[in-house]
Amino acid sequence: MRHRIPAAAAACATMAVLTAVPGLAQTAAVSKGGRVEKSSFGTTKDGQAVDLYTLTNAKGVVAKVITYGALLTELHVPDKSGMMADVVLGFKTLDRYESDHPYFGATIGRVANRIAKGRFKLGGQEYALAANNGPNHLHGGLRGFDKRVWKAQPVSTGGVPAVRFTYTSADMEEGYPGALTATVTYTLTHANELRLEYTAVTDKPTIVNLTNHSYFNLAGDGQGTILDHELTIMADRFTPVDDTLIPTGEIASVRGTVMDFNRATPIGARIAEVPGPAPGGYDHNYVLSHGGGVLAMSATVRDPKSGRVMDVLTSEPGIQLYTGNFLDGTLTGKAGVAYQRHAGFCLETQHFPDAINHPNFPPVVLQPGRTFKSTTVYRFSAR
Ligand code: GLA
Repeated sequence: MRHRIPAAAAACATMAVLTAVPGLAQTAAVSKGGRVEKSSFGTTKDGQAVDLYTLTNAKGVVAKVITYGALLTELHVPDKSGMMADVVLGFKTLDRYESDHPYFGATIGRVANRIAKGRFKLGGQEYALAANNGPNHLHGGLRGFDKRVWKAQPVSTGGVPAVRFTYTSADMEEGYPGALTATVTYTLTHANELRLEYTAVTDKPTIVNLTNHSYFNLAGDGQGTILDHELTIMADRFTPVDDTLIPTGEIASVRGTVMDFNRATPIGARIAEVPGPAPGGYDHNYVLSHGGGVLAMSATVRDPKSGRVMDVLTSEPGIQLYTGNFLDGTLTGKAGVAYQRHAGFCLETQHFPDAINHPNFPPVVLQPGRTFKSTTVYRFSAR
């Protein structure tokens, strides 16, 4: 949805509404222009209360996150003339998130992306997970972290709005060994950065790979396809896949191929030539040139119409570029518009798909006593 209100005025208008209607939402932190408000987002089918946290920074940028799936439902950022738009796909109501949907905005775990045939070995033991994506395991299984209600706690510091979400996944939940406690902290800085910081600890050796599955459209939710968005990915290599989207194990060069986004290129420019199974499009893991381990620039996307720019910085070694290939018009989003193919793109920062079955990929095993840590920043500007 678009609002014809410049960013600063939008911030003031929202504040006025809150003053006029006390008790509408709980304001957990107000200082230096940033704030966090908590309100109800309804109740799940099995009776769990779900809360919505609204983070607003000093510039009027707004991020909304619900405790169901620690899921980003809205993200309002300005274009080059200061006009705000919600740049993520999603729904208005909880029942839609509880129904079948392709992970809009959700936190993904315990292991993001695919595990071949749902099988892996750890500590000499073989584990079998649900095959919920053809023959393979995808995004944590039948009821992954995206379908769980997380605990939330506002953790704003110095007027910078932030909320930490926590979920404890029981030993053998979805077939994974070890009780794992995961946190994801959403921080909305005054520099228009949405910062996602993940941690995880376990009581037995396990595997973990956390990401966020937001679908972005920098022209605004429901504003057509993202095929004209100009994309740069700082990656010389990618992990080629088989017909079921499992990596072959090869780490191949992107140079001279349709996979190469080292120079800003419209997403749609070569999309019809991307090799792979129907319906085609990009659904590939890039091997980031910075190698992971420290937070570094990894990708940039610009919408030529609005001028909105999103930089992606991550400490992860990989990024899955997914161009909404499976959207087919059957889901209608917040703006009342049916999501057609390529209505949004995802840049899922991650360890490589099926890493546990590929010794040459960066490892995803977490040992007790160690803390998994990962940071991804989505930084917005306009030009
Ligand atoms: C991921 C996968 C895609 C698809 C989407 C959800 O990004 O890589 O193949 O399953 O999730 O539709």
